Amino acid sequence: MASGQLSRAEALACPGCRHACHVMLYCDTETQLFGIHPIRHIILMQMRFDGLLGFPGGFVDPSEESLEAGLSRELSEELGVALPILEEDHLDSCYGPPSSPSSSSSSSRLITHFYAKKMEEEQIRAVERAAVTTATDHGQEVLGMVRVPLYTMEGGKGLAPFLSHSFAGSARSQLADSLLRLHLVAPEELRDASARALQIRA
Ligand code: GTP
Ligand code: MN
Ligand code: MN
Ligand code: MN
Ligand code: MN
Ligand code: MN
Repeated sequence: MASGQLSRAEALACPGCRHACHVMLYCDTETQLFGIHPIRHIILMQMRFDGLLGFPGGFVDPSEESLEAGLSRELSEELGVALPILEEDHLDSCYGPPSSPSSSSSSSRLITHFYAKKMEEEQIRAVERAAVTTATDHGQEVLGMVRVPLYTMEGGKGLAPFLSHSFAGSARSQLADSLLRLHLVAPEELRDASARALQIRA
């Protein structure tokens, strides 16, 4: 396991830790952009109230509900659909950055749990519709759902500029790690796009 990572069981055994669960909902697609760039996969992220990109999900108190039930609850609030999340959808759990002395609410360590759930394209489209029509958090915590451009166009546009944006917590590495792990982007394509993203940010 990479440094900072811990198992789901170890994470739950941490006394006084706070927990947050987020999920990458995704599907395969045959669609092509402008009829030439295969989109390959639709991956859902969101523009958050704080101007950062992140995955749907949020804080869960394991003394009140299971991690997966809490994540489902957050999805109901943020996406307007009750999606069942299973323990088998869990990818990893990591310690967040040590909380800054100025953070008022709590000084306990945050553990972020990450899940991935593959869906059918029509289900993903239904989630996108519900996120604007029925989600109570729309226009509040969530400003809108966004799809991740996985392709690279002439001039380097596409994945690289997307990765150059600002992300909540470790969402950028959660995205990059899952793209590799789930074989959604070729390793060399991701490496090039990540390098260009750093140049764009500089
Ligand atoms: P409230 O209902 O307002 O409490 O928000 P929430 O429960 O939806 O929590 P949120 O989604 O903001 O996530 C909780 C914590 O995880 C915050 O400290 C965020 O900075 C962090 N966070 C938010 N999105 C992501 C993400 O996609 N990945 C990771 N790793 N952390 C995130
Ligand atoms: Mn929330
Ligand atoms: Mn949230
Ligand atoms: Mn919440
Ligand atoms: Mn909330
Ligand atoms: Mn693929």
